[in-house]
Amino acid sequence: MVDNRISTKPVINRLVVVGLGLIGSSLALAVRESGLAQRVIGISRRASTVEIALERGIIDAGEEHLQSIAADLSAGDLVVIGVPTLSVPAVLQDCADLLSDKVTITDVASVKGSVVDAAKSIYGQVPAQLVPGHPIAGSEKSGVTAANAKLFKDHRVILTPDHATADSHFQLVAELWTAVGATVSSMDTVEHDEILAATSHLPHFLAYSLVDTLASMGDKREIFRYAAGGFRDFTRIAASDPVMWRDIALANRESITKLLDQVMSNFAQMRSAIAAGDQDYLMDVFTRARDARNHFGKILDQQALQGGIQSPMIEKIINYRVLPGGNAVGDIRVPGDKSMSHRSIMLGSLAEGLTEVTGFLEGEDSLATLQSFRDMGVVIEGPDQGRVAIHGVGLHGLKAPQKPLYLGNSGTSIRLLSGLLAGQAFDVELIGDASLSGRPMGRVADPLRQMGAVIETAEGGRPPLKITGGQTLSAIDYAMPMASAQVKSCVLLAGLYTEGETMVIEPAPTRDHTERMLRGFGYQVTSNGNRASLQGGGSLTASRIDVPADISSAAFFMVAAAIVPGSDITLRHVGVNPTRVGVINILRQMGAVIELSNQIEVGGEPVADIRVQYGSLKGINIPEDQVPLAIDEFPVLFIAAACAEGVTVLTGAEELRVKESDRIQSMADGLVTLGIDAQSTPDGIRIVGGQLGAGEVHSHDDHRIAMAFAIAGLRAKGEILVHDCNNVATSFPNFIDLARQIGVDLRSETLGD
Ligand code: S3P
Repeated sequence: MVDNRISTKPVINRLVVVGLGLIGSSLALAVRESGLAQRVIGISRRASTVEIALERGIIDAGEEHLQSIAADLSAGDLVVIGVPTLSVPAVLQDCADLLSDKVTITDVASVKGSVVDAAKSIYGQVPAQLVPGHPIAGSEKSGVTAANAKLFKDHRVILTPDHATADSHFQLVAELWTAVGATVSSMDTVEHDEILAATSHLPHFLAYSLVDTLASMGDKREIFRYAAGGFRDFTRIAASDPVMWRDIALANRESITKLLDQVMSNFAQMRSAIAAGDQDYLMDVFTRARDARNHFGKILDQQALQGGIQSPMIEKIINYRVLPGGNAVGDIRVPGDKSMSHRSIMLGSLAEGLTEVTGFLEGEDSLATLQSFRDMGVVIEGPDQGRVAIHGVGLHGLKAPQKPLYLGNSGTSIRLLSGLLAGQAFDVELIGDASLSGRPMGRVADPLRQMGAVIETAEGGRPPLKITGGQTLSAIDYAMPMASAQVKSCVLLAGLYTEGETMVIEPAPTRDHTERMLRGFGYQVTSNGNRASLQGGGSLTASRIDVPADISSAAFFMVAAAIVPGSDITLRHVGVNPTRVGVINILRQMGAVIELSNQIEVGGEPVADIRVQYGSLKGINIPEDQVPLAIDEFPVLFIAAACAEGVTVLTGAEELRVKESDRIQSMADGLVTLGIDAQSTPDGIRIVGGQLGAGEVHSHDDHRIAMAFAIAGLRAKGEILVHDCNNVATSFPNFIDLARQIGVDLRSETLGD
């Protein structure tokens, strides 16, 4: 739940802040400034604190005890318990004794399980009026004198409502935090405490322990004199408030002790490896950790994995603003093919030996695949400017991951991995972000179950997918009900773990990168008309892979050139596998001028330079046999249709409704907003070419919708604002740079900056 509305009129009668430490007094001050509450009352046992708060305009009135005002409080009043974690139960007891059940109560403690336990023992159960909360904000300064009204701006506040918590009380607390600039999200109490134990509590205890260890060794001054750089970086947080951390350690002892046990066993292993001179072990740990750290670093810098690896860190929202009148001229290479990048990691990991990849797409989707193989014990170096080196472990060398594999937004990752993991000896759970969690997985679970896999899906056949390992898979002949390369690849990858011949029969040709790449790894795959088959039980031999540029990313600039008079764009080294070239065929049929040159074959995949020039486009009936060959390019092809003369009709494309968004509806809605006559049909769309107008459209969590409307800006009468474009990083991390380079007047705006 995220809500960024800023209230202008008071929605809280009285805000009572119990405890005027840094958090309490900053909140009181911020609320006073926002005008959200009619009156802000501060409670502190120390009269001097109340005095300072009054003097500085932090509160309207102050008291030393809640008792003095408790009887007056009723619905619309909100009590914030702002005392240290271990003091929360005492205040909660006061609340239970003194407050009506209409008053909303929240707290700001860093550990939530102990607050909920205290509430249960005091009230008998969590009362409907209690909304436990945790603002992830702080400062090295403490106390009322450090009050800062901006402390929560752009920070996250996690609320952990119980099932008994009433909606009205939850809403009021969410409004409170939103009004002071925070982003509110909600989470289960146990999950909150586990995440915070790992991301915040454990690092503090390690820092305290390291400083304490060094401080008790020999001549302290001598040691600290040399303990600069790394020591200073690592131990900065050991300067934090001891009382607070004592409270946190005790309040969250269960999660923290579990983590400490894990760290200690890791330390013990590292100690033995160092003592035994085990270079491989050390290289494995250091490479894995360095790469994981780089990955986190990118998330923290807002560059990677939107939604984070379930990280509670704040994600800022990026919007695109496109001004009309740009052109489309240039000579560029777009990033590597997403489908091939995923497969290079998967097959490289399952191969024997070292696979070196160039041109790898460093987008969030393919990085999610890469990270999951690291989580299963594969050492993968890079990516570094598209280079990745994978130390393959063989078909049976993967290890059980310690936690669910998080696949972000990536349908290809989850569906291909489900096949590959169905035949492993270990259990595994596959999870993803909100968009992925709404996508159908029955299409892979069904054939895998026919093969003998044990897979559980959530309601409606959606993720998470829970796969129980140790099954014996049998080969099947599978006639796919829909044309899907992901389903085909899933079944073929599961087929590697059977003893017989697995065959997939497709209703129409779909991308065949899995088949081609398997052959590149020395594995025999037979393709015969609409059938692909392989014999299980073989092995893969490491290979070199040169991933060409992604035709699905190139498509945005192909359309840009096709719709703007005078345009001329050359796209270099693009993969032009016949199962992917629907966009070229369709644009040519509409009248664009497209030439292919330097056609070569690289690692079993055809590659070419593609030159596109403006042609006056005409609406067409898109041939249904082109649908699977252009399946990812329709959002931008609809922009071409909007700029063409006459009517374009697409049919037979119901698959578009279950992509990262319902692409038929997302595009129809946006086009209508921009003044185009676009009507969705159950399996396609009818678009009447016309003049694109100015307006605001939404990406609906879908990278290709965001980029398609950015390209539309080239031919619009006025400015187009595309909301929520963070997801572009899933497939095309440098889209903005390349769009600007060819002449699109595109700006990205980060909300909250
Ligand atoms: C892909 C297959 C297609 C495509 C997706 C990538 C792949 O999905 O839309 O972006 O790499 O196999 P479907 O198999 O669902 O058509």
